[in-house]
Amino acid sequence: SLKRRFQLRLLKWYAANGRDLPWRNTADPYHILVSEVMLQQTQVDRVIPKYHEFLDRYPSFQHLAEAPVGEVKTTWYPLGYNIRPERLHSIACETVARYGGKLPSTEEDLLSFKGIGRYTAGAIRSFAFNEDAPILDTNVMRVLHRVFIAKGDPKASKSILWALSETLIPKGRGYDFNQALMDFGATCCTSRNPSCRPCPMKSICKTYPFGAGRTKPL
Ligand code: ADE
Repeated sequence: SLKRRFQLRLLKWYAANGRDLPWRNTADPYHILVSEVMLQQTQVDRVIPKYHEFLDRYPSFQHLAEAPVGEVKTTWYPLGYNIRPERLHSIACETVARYGGKLPSTEEDLLSFKGIGRYTAGAIRSFAFNEDAPILDTNVMRVLHRVFIAKGDPKASKSILWALSETLIPKGRGYDFNQALMDFGATCCTSRNPSCRPCPMKSICKTYPFGAGRTKPL
């Protein structure tokens, strides 16, 4: 089936092309949360040095919760003068107060935090707790929409794409499959000028025959 071929090809592509990123060498839910909040609006190469600096200064939920929020915002600079460091600080405080300093793993508990939405909950569950939980951010939306739908605007198919993201995960492979989706969207199925020529999905992609929004012909 199309889905099965997509799964196999994506995992194979990831084995050969996956990036070695610092938050893939840890099983600590706190580290993974910090990386995900940083990655929400910032490119991977700008996140990496700040991720290390932040974790050196605040090595655990307890350390972060005890720090003054103004200092946390300063440490965050220049990743963006927005509410992300405040949100992360409040998640740390609540994790200490309500969960004894350990991040919960159910979707319901994760969604109860201000600053954790459906994407981040899925990322935490799959990357920190090895659950087959779906993720859908703008990159994953673009990939799944191109390969499986092609018609209309990805945002209009959001609920269908969430369902796809869930049913596509090969059992027990949520961690690798979701990391693979992130890398595939970031380096192959990019928003502008996607690399369709070497793309392993081109023979099953619903968008490929029509040009994938390419600005140059193949
Ligand atoms: N963006 C958000 N989460 C990511 C991850 N785990 N790896 C790479 N890019 C990401």
